[in-house]
Amino acid sequence: MQPGTPRLGVAMIGYAFMGAAHSQGWRVAPRFFDLPLRPEMRVVVGRDEARVSAAAQRFGWAGYETDWRRVLQREDVDLVDICVPGDLHAQIATEALQAGKHVLCEKPLANTVAEAEQMASAAEAAAVRGVFAMVGFTYRRVPAIALAAQLVAEGRLGTIRHVRAQYLQDWIADEQAPLSWRLDKEKAGSGALGDIGAHIVDLAQFVTGHHIIGVSGMLETFVTERPVAAEHAGLSGTAGGGRGPVTVDDAAVFTARTTGGALATFEATRFAWGRKNAIRLEVNGSKGSLAFDFEDMNVLHFFDATEPARTAGFRRIVVTEGEHPYLAAWWPPGHGLGYEHGFVHQAVDLVHALAENRQPEPSFAEGLNVQRVLDAVVRSSANGSSWTTV
Ligand SMILES: NC(=O)c1ccc[n+]([C@@H]2O[C@H](COP(=O)([O-])OP(=O)(O)OC[C@H]3O[C@@H](n4cnc5c(N)ncnc54)[C@H](O)[C@@H]3O)[C@@H](O)[C@H]2O)c1
Repeated sequence: MQPGTPRLGVAMIGYAFMGAAHSQGWRVAPRFFDLPLRPEMRVVVGRDEARVSAAAQRFGWAGYETDWRRVLQREDVDLVDICVPGDLHAQIATEALQAGKHVLCEKPLANTVAEAEQMASAAEAAAVRGVFAMVGFTYRRVPAIALAAQLVAEGRLGTIRHVRAQYLQDWIADEQAPLSWRLDKEKAGSGALGDIGAHIVDLAQFVTGHHIIGVSGMLETFVTERPVAAEHAGLSGTAGGGRGPVTVDDAAVFTARTTGGALATFEATRFAWGRKNAIRLEVNGSKGSLAFDFEDMNVLHFFDATEPARTAGFRRIVVTEGEHPYLAAWWPPGHGLGYEHGFVHQAVDLVHALAENRQPEPSFAEGLNVQRVLDAVVRSSANGSSWTTV
């Protein structure tokens, strides 16, 4: 990074799973990529002083605060990075944008369409003043996914006919796994649908360039009561005393039609034993197919139907070449990337957009679009899986 590069003061709210991942993103991005702004990790926010000060030290933040509203007043903060549960997204993002701070907000954008609409209009008003907001659909920044989007945009798949998207995990397949905020509708808005289904909706739309126009869905809660958690970290926790209700869906399955005339299927569940973070995306077009699985995240499978049938077959592309998206900044070919690199790339893309005074993607409008799809699935499921427009 050049001496004299202007600074971007960052405040991050929340310091657990996403807080750790975003800290890694901000810390590493300027060390591997030439950035037009120098991100500075100024302050992390949490409610418990002892814990947040330990997190500041551990993750490399210069200071800490125990009330998120205080960082909105600080002149050395240019961007607020929201890494807390969904029930706080709308309030923090809206106030931060009004205070003139850029915002990076974790997904799903909000817990309801009404909140997401309010956030999108706050973002639209702020953008006129050169203040921008982005939602954290991080998996867009996985190089193999970015390459898939490039191949589709270049026409290598022709007309897109099918999208098959799954997000499979197993962290609550055990019926004794304790409650967490992710199983509480007040905090999370919905269950597997919003937590992981939101990602595959975004990925399907990002890779194909289509939008979903209608859905038919089914939601199910298999385990309606669980032990109350004593302690929770990341996706795991330990059970304490007593039991409480699960108020969200455990799994979501839905079909959809897209603006480009494709048929799409989606499955999001945390009950798929053995599948840890299996984001699977398969796209079939008139000229070929693509297939991706996050559990083998450095690989993209591509079938080119224009090749002679005698030798055609799925090609296993190891997405680690210098000409692949983001890879020029990293290691020699074959020296793969991991989960955290998506957060580094997210910081890189955001910083470039801000330096160029342009809207970073995915915007809050795109986050609102995903929220509308999720809402249509909920309405469809409540109405006997009837066809529901977005
Ligand atoms: N992009 C991704 O791939 C991805 C992955 C996981 C989670 N997420 C999203 O990130 C967000 C956070 O999820 P997580 O897994 O990090 O949760 P988490 O439970 O690990 O962390 C939540 C953090 O929020 C803090 N917090 C809660 N209320 C607060 C308040 N009033 N003031 C300050 N801090 C508060 C908690 O102390 C904790 O540090 C959610 O919106 C989630 O959907 C995104």
